[in-house]
Amino acid sequence: MRQVGPSEAMGHKYPEWVILVVARDGQGKPNLMPAGWGMICSGDPRLVCVAIAPGRYTHRCIEETGEFVFAWAGEGQAELVKHSGSCSGAKVSKFEEFEIPTAEPVAIGVPLLAEAAVNLECTVWAAYPAGDHTIFVGEVVAGHLPEEPVATLLNFSGKFAPGAPAVEPE
Ligand SMILES: Cc1cc2nc3c(=O)[nH]c(=O)nc-3n(C[C@H](O)[C@H](O)[C@H](O)COP(=O)(O)O)c2cc1C
Repeated sequence: MRQVGPSEAMGHKYPEWVILVVARDGQGKPNLMPAGWGMICSGDPRLVCVAIAPGRYTHRCIEETGEFVFAWAGEGQAELVKHSGSCSGAKVSKFEEFEIPTAEPVAIGVPLLAEAAVNLECTVWAAYPAGDHTIFVGEVVAGHLPEEPVATLLNFSGKFAPGAPAVEPE
């Protein structure tokens, strides 16, 4: 074992899944961003959380409307992850610019991502400041799977590859 700096150690965590966080701003414009720092954090109530830096447009959207879609990116969304993660909804209408296919939500007013592996509709349950990010905790109020299973997308430190093929849990 050799001791290294915390950043160097944490840089060896890969692979990491990619969550696409979708939210509308107060004027109704939809936006999305990729996030690696998110997970399921409670079973009852059913909660997910994601850490979003205050400078992100998505942060503003979630603060303004109190709801978001937490979608595990699908294997075909690597280019969308790269593009939507390198520009801000403050300057770009990402859904128009990247022609992102959507599907209708049932419980909140935020579009689902038609090509994601999993879509969860969430309402904000809590928001905790955590250093240079805010942890948004969302209560999952509806869930959606594609008609045909789609594998999740894994991030290998900037290179993307499909995860295991999606199978029904036993
Ligand atoms: C693979 C990947 C993972 C990312 N993970 C996070 C994250 O967990 N939290 C965060 O605040 N930003 C994260 N980012 C950066 C944002 O996605 C990026 O700054 C994005 O352009 C913000 O868009 P917005 O201003 O429209 O919200 C990640 C970017 C990529 C490409």
